Amino acid sequence: MAIKSFEGKTAFITGGASGIGLGIAKAFSARGARIVIADLRPDHIEKALATFAGGAQSNSVSAIEIDVTNREAYADAAEKMQAEFGGIDILVNNAGVGVEGPILEARYADWDFGLGVNVNGVVNGLQAFLPQMIAHGRGGHIVNTSSLAAAVMMPEQFVIYAAGKAAVLNMSENMREVLAAKNIGMSVLLPAFTKSNIHEAARNRPAHLRKDSGFKASEKALSEREIGAEWMEPEEVGEMVAKGVLNNDLYIITHGQFKNRMRERAEAMLAATPESDFQF
Ligand SMILES: NC(=O)c1ccc[n+]([C@@H]2O[C@H](COP(=O)([O-])OP(=O)(O)OC[C@H]3O[C@@H](n4cnc5c(N)ncnc54)[C@H](O)[C@@H]3O)[C@@H](O)[C@H]2O)c1
Repeated sequence: MAIKSFEGKTAFITGGASGIGLGIAKAFSARGARIVIADLRPDHIEKALATFAGGAQSNSVSAIEIDVTNREAYADAAEKMQAEFGGIDILVNNAGVGVEGPILEARYADWDFGLGVNVNGVVNGLQAFLPQMIAHGRGGHIVNTSSLAAAVMMPEQFVIYAAGKAAVLNMSENMREVLAAKNIGMSVLLPAFTKSNIHEAARNRPAHLRKDSGFKASEKALSEREIGAEWMEPEEVGEMVAKGVLNNDLYIITHGQFKNRMRERAEAMLAATPESDFQF
């Protein structure tokens, strides 16, 4: 079952103040949803709210400053959403960080930072909000932002990032059926090159995971990376997500450039798999 319309629905969008999350917020808002932007960065929140100011939907867009790795803050946010809106209808677990660097230099701080936001941030969103989404009985939808990096073999500097995104892809696929029984749809977004601020990963790294990082040089280089003029606009991704939600599509995939590498990976796995008369 999918939600049939965004009209009057409340959508909680993590990382909703920038890039893809903001693109999703705009697309949902244009279709009549109430938007709660949940983001770590007050500067992003301020700019994001300004993009809605004066528009027809501006009164139905609000923001919460939250770190998705903070479970207590998440519990408070869920309580607030319950009190204000009788619970949310759409959860978009989109906040993520572009953690990248030479994997043999990685320290625990780099794994903890990357998996903390990109995996546990999603887990925390599910744990905090699923109870109210099930209890209110209206049904709803979840979108988890993974990456096409999860679907192909990636260069070594993306090991932590791709591992986290693969976990998000996998949990989305495997939760779909049980959520469908509760009238909650599940989509996983796999984007590639999209214009955003993901190169600012270092700015989003908490102080206690900075000192012992092995990725300092690569994060500095990433922070100076130019955004490609040909990269996709986040608004275009947002439109794809809105349509994918209404279709209850499991996979929302933005770019076709990796299709051959996706096929090669699947074929390599199948080629390594013995034949069996019994199939699950
Ligand atoms: N841009 C791309 O090309 C691309 C490709 C594949 C996947 N993605 C994924 O898309 C998602 C959105 O990224 P984006 O490219 O729009 O980047 P972005 O940096 O523009 O937006 C991410 C937002 O998340 C927020 N954020 C970061 N850490 C947070 C935390 N701990 N708690 C709450 N908010 C936090 C940031 O402040 C930012 O506003 C991420 O999950 C990213 O991995 C992006």
